[in-house]
Amino acid sequence: MRLTQLVATILSAATLAASVDWKATPFNPSAIPLAVRSPYLNTWLAQGGNGRALSSTWPSFWTGQACPRLAKIDGINYSWLGTPAVDGVTYTRATQKSVTITATQSIFVLSAGPVDLTVTFLSPVEPNDLVKQSFPFSYVSVVAASTDGASHKVSIYCDISGEWNSGANTWTINWETTKGDILTHRVQTAAQAQYEEINDVTQYGSIYWSTVNSAGTTTQTGPDRQVREEFLKNGKLTNALDKTFRQIYNSWPVFAHAHDLGSVSSTATKPKLFTIGHVRNPSIQYIVAGGSYQDRSPYFFTKFPTVAAALTSFVNDFSAALTRANAFDAKVQADASKISADYAGVVALSIRQALATIEITTSKTAFGTYDPNDVIVFMKEISSNGNMNTVDVIFPAWPVLLYVNPALGKYLLEGVLRYQATGQYPNKWSIHDIGGNFPKAIGHNDGGDEAMPVEESGNMIIMALSYAQKTGDLSHIKKYVPLFDQFAQFLVSDSLIPANQISTDDFAGPLANQTNLAIKGIIGIGAMGEIHKLLKNNAQSANYSSIAASYVPQWQKLATAASGDHLTLAYGQDNTWGLTYNLFADKLLKLNLFPQSVYDMQTAWYTSHTNAFGVQLDTRHTYTKTDWEIWTATWVTSTALRDTLIGAVKSFVSDGKFDGPFSDWYDTVSGNQVGFRARPVVGGHLAFLIM
Ligand SMILES: *[C@@H]1O[C@H](CO)[C@@H](O)[C@H](O)[C@H]1NC(C)=O
Ligand SMILES: *[C@@H]1O[C@H](CO)[C@@H](O)[C@H](O)[C@H]1NC(C)=O
Ligand SMILES: *[C@@H]1O[C@H](CO)[C@@H](O)[C@H](O)[C@H]1NC(C)=O
Repeated sequence: MRLTQLVATILSAATLAASVDWKATPFNPSAIPLAVRSPYLNTWLAQGGNGRALSSTWPSFWTGQACPRLAKIDGINYSWLGTPAVDGVTYTRATQKSVTITATQSIFVLSAGPVDLTVTFLSPVEPNDLVKQSFPFSYVSVVAASTDGASHKVSIYCDISGEWNSGANTWTINWETTKGDILTHRVQTAAQAQYEEINDVTQYGSIYWSTVNSAGTTTQTGPDRQVREEFLKNGKLTNALDKTFRQIYNSWPVFAHAHDLGSVSSTATKPKLFTIGHVRNPSIQYIVAGGSYQDRSPYFFTKFPTVAAALTSFVNDFSAALTRANAFDAKVQADASKISADYAGVVALSIRQALATIEITTSKTAFGTYDPNDVIVFMKEISSNGNMNTVDVIFPAWPVLLYVNPALGKYLLEGVLRYQATGQYPNKWSIHDIGGNFPKAIGHNDGGDEAMPVEESGNMIIMALSYAQKTGDLSHIKKYVPLFDQFAQFLVSDSLIPANQISTDDFAGPLANQTNLAIKGIIGIGAMGEIHKLLKNNAQSANYSSIAASYVPQWQKLATAASGDHLTLAYGQDNTWGLTYNLFADKLLKLNLFPQSVYDMQTAWYTSHTNAFGVQLDTRHTYTKTDWEIWTATWVTSTALRDTLIGAVKSFVSDGKFDGPFSDWYDTVSGNQVGFRARPVVGGHLAFLIM
């Protein structure tokens, strides 16, 4: 009976997939990542119902507002990216044949008449190189090949507008073009509003829009219509530079590059390379001891003295970067495919989104040089709000950090712990975040951050132990053990019977005695026992471990419904239940605090409570979270349920009902997005890869 019902549910979800005219591998998602490398370099191709080809819509910032402008032509006029308006000009949209999405790349094949264009957007992931990972730059390469046996004259063109520089088009911008082996248009707001945002777009720093200068390369700046028409008429640009600095929307200044590829045969041309980047220096404001603020800079400055030097290195490194990216993509694909094809697709789509929410920074020494040994990573929560290093957002993102480079996780925690170690934060539990609005990490000296006492205290200890277990590096837990002890003591007093409070799922509201929150707290205490064990503090280790062990049977009594077939959402409320996704940490840390019977019971319960798009978060609503579906999938004892949960996330993100970057909050009955997009928490989808 049950099995039949399950199969039927899966089938009905599958039929809800978006229908698109091209081949999409692994599937057509709600938005395709284009240049996705930082909270401000975060550009996507939104898909919605029937999908949108690269040649039929403007790419957009994660919030949804339009940003870049790029166009291309053959002997006939074709558009291959965006929808450039030029009065009285007829152009044909290139037809999108396919899109392939890997962990680092989105590869489009478009046919422009008898010529195929392969356009690759590469946003690198550099696992073992903090300098390269800190580059806020992304590649776009274009390759052409004839498909009808004949040769064709091809030239390609790309421009950007000042919309990349501001969340309000009334702002005045200025620009300059540098010519050498690399052609770069640098564009910035005239009034550099340091650390300020409008509509989540940064208002200072500069955009760097570059291409490799070779025979047949031309460039131009000027009003959008004029520059595009110039290219459409002549297949090249004039190299003229517009010197009239003005507002972004004031006859739209665009910054263009074009390449004459000459006569193109069936042999694919060498890639024509463009790069786009956005650099702010300083990038982050950070509170230090005594309440003063430190300006921090992108980490690449520890190796490259100027942006130009960094950019030259990035551009010249393209073919090596592509080789590394292909190797990384293949590793992700191989690792994730061991679970399932659905899982591999979800993971590939999640990685760029998660890593683009962080920035790696350094500070200046007393001698004015950038200090390679002072690393802090900052994260923007994105879309739910602009909080910095939110502990319960780092926590769900933790799997991608641990998989790609655990040091990124350590340096994210450093931002939280270094501030709390100054003693300026007044509460005894872990802080929620270190700044309400990115990029201002100015702390919460009034203790007025969003209080999630059990949630965050447990999260910090769990992540600290997880980092130490994964790397063997004990320096971090050694340095901050007094803080971890403080958090653990709070958990000893407050986690078996959690007071009325919110968990990370704050949108669901506060509740006393939350079963899943108690799990988090008990695991936190057990993890503290392991931390002391690693530090050879045997008495403390034994104490915490025995407290955690003694809490489990007490918790089990409080949290099990009278019917004996499920855990409740909150103690004593027999008709309630929820996803006890925090059990993931018991498995991750190999603590095995909770008995097998709990896992078996919850597996049976969820199997009989599955909606078309997975298992709801709890009995208060039918919505759920993608990260928690996957975390639950890691420990359920049935492969069928595991695959249902993973399949539900894949069905949601490919069902054509949402029009933006991966959302983590959706309805399990309708498959509609409920809220949130582009958040770091999709890094939690990599949970299987770190077990
Ligand atoms: C391409 O656009 C240019 C500029 O408007 C125009 O002069 C030309 O006739 C167009 N070519 C074709 C084949 O439509
Ligand atoms: C064990 O830890 C608890 C909570 O921190 C503390 O109150 C107690 O004194 C400790 N016991 C020993 C023997 O260290
Ligand atoms: C929480 O659970 C404990 C233990 O069952 C109970 O004593 C307490 O009244 C509960 N708190 C609330 C607010 O329901």
